[in-house]
Amino acid sequence: MKRIIVLLVVLAMGLSMQAQEMKVIKLNAPNKTKGEAVMKVFNQRQSVREYAAKELSQQDLSDLLWAANGVNRADGRRTAPSARNVQDVDIYVVMKEGAYLYDAKAHQLNPVAPGDHRAAIAASQDYVKTAPVCLVLVSDLSRMGNPQAEQTKLMAAVDVGIVCQNINIACAGLGLATVPRGIMNHAELAKALQLKDTQLLLMNNPVGYPK
Ligand SMILES: Cc1cc2nc3c(=O)[nH]c(=O)nc-3n(C[C@H](O)[C@H](O)[C@H](O)COP(=O)(O)O)c2cc1C
Repeated sequence: MKRIIVLLVVLAMGLSMQAQEMKVIKLNAPNKTKGEAVMKVFNQRQSVREYAAKELSQQDLSDLLWAANGVNRADGRRTAPSARNVQDVDIYVVMKEGAYLYDAKAHQLNPVAPGDHRAAIAASQDYVKTAPVCLVLVSDLSRMGNPQAEQTKLMAAVDVGIVCQNINIACAGLGLATVPRGIMNHAELAKALQLKDTQLLLMNNPVGYPK
């Protein structure tokens, strides 16, 4: 018994040390003049479920996150509208080396959990594990007041849907491949991302370069 406890303590220490080893990733400034004309981009938008075996460049990741839900005005408002501007949608960025939370104000990725959590996002769909980056869209209902109300959850779903479509359109315009997904292993992912009870996991987008 004593041995098991010592083993568990060593394991826990190892995990927390790993988490401390993760560093904040300062993203490049987004390139706001990049991309194709909007009508051409709508014409190109499609779900893509095959990705090249190539990491996403820092610049593409930066541009994509800013387009998804970055700050685009001096008063802190975002590229994605949200009900009453509560800005309830958070983007978790899940990569091979770990999971991060996109901090839109600082335009950086804050460490959340080390390790590869893409399998929890993939669930029954293996192709997801080949995407170098998965964006997981979470609404924090506590920012909306009355988290249990049906209307709150509906607004959360709408807000997440808008960010998701920003991602779909941005990918189409930036030469990236993605698919909006509702499937994921909710319980496993919520645990890995250390979500609170008020945080609703709604959609995810695997992202990579087209194959
Ligand atoms: C709310 C929502 C949930 C979806 N969930 C999944 C999913 O879990 N897995 C998947 O492979 N595609 C998923 N899709 C993608 C749809 O299958 C796809 O959009 C649809 O087949 C139309 O194809 P298109 O996006 O290329 O127009 C989802 C789409 C939406 C809008």
